[in-house]
This record gives sequence, C-alpha cells and structure tokens, in this order.
Amino acid sequence: MRAIEMIVDGATVRREVDPRLLLVHLLTDSLDRTGVNVGCDSSNCGACTVLLDGRSVKSCTVLAVQADGHEVTTVRGIAEEGDWHPLQTAFRNCHALQCGYCTPGMIMAAKDLLDAVPDPTDEQIREGLEGNLCRCTGYAPIVAAVREAADDLAAQRQG
Ligand code: FES
Ligand code: FES
Repeated sequence: MRAIEMIVDGATVRREVDPRLLLVHLLTDSLDRTGVNVGCDSSNCGACTVLLDGRSVKSCTVLAVQADGHEVTTVRGIAEEGDWHPLQTAFRNCHALQCGYCTPGMIMAAKDLLDAVPDPTDEQIREGLEGNLCRCTGYAPIVAAVREAADDLAAQRQG
C-alpha cells in the first residue's frame, strides 16, 4: 500500500492505496464521485474524464498514485457555491444529454477545451471532444451547448 494525498474538488484527500489502483476507481469507489463513469475497458469512451491539474484526462488511464500531490476536478467540483457552471446550464438548455452517461466526462473535456480556446469554432469543439463518445445525441446538441457556454463565459468576462 502507498500513502497518497491530493486535492479532489477543492478538498484535501488522503488515502492508503494499492499502487495498481486506477484513479477512476479511487474516485468512484472510495470518494463517491457519482459524476465519474466507467463506460469501457479500453480508454475509448471518455465517460471517466476528469481534470488533472486543469487538463482533461481519462481517469481509467491514470493510476491513483500518479495523482499523488496533484489536483483532481470532477464535474462535482465545477459548480460554484451551488450555481451550475455555464457548461452545465448550456447542456440542459440545449438538450445535450439523453441518458446522461457521457455527460460529466463530456463537460469536463469541454471545460478543458474552453479554458484553452475560449472562442472555438464548431470544428474545434468537435476536435476537442473527439475522445468522448455519446451514443444518444448525435453530437449536434453537444456542440451547440459548448458554443452557448463559450458565449456565456465571454459575456461574464466582459462583465
Ligand atoms: S471508462 Fe471509457 S475511457 Fe475511461
Ligand atoms: S447522452 Fe447517452 S451516451 Fe451521451
């Protein structure tokens, strides 16, 4: 076992973990992050996407010990004081989810994209989310939601 410490959604977490434990299993099994999903066994679906030091990663491809000393953000951590993040609001407004299984990972990948590219084209949005699969929506409402969130965030920045 190995002692690890990390920040998860703004709070310090300390655990003794098996060095082989995947970050996704730490988040779901030990930390009750219900917004982190496992959709595949092959690093393909993106349902498990979280931010590691602000960059999106598929948490099924990261060992928990690799996150030792780092900051992990799940979809639970992006709402502020009970207010939804603009991406969460836009996904609802644009009907960008049906079953919702892909949605938390999709939102985290989109957050990484908008942090790096605040005003992306639709093509850049599709490229930014290409590692995240959705079986329900056909993707168009997701692209529209990210576009709406980008516009909302730009308006917020202008005050
Ligand atoms: S669970 Fe599918 S990419 Fe991680
Ligand atoms: S909303 Fe069902 S997989 Fe995307």
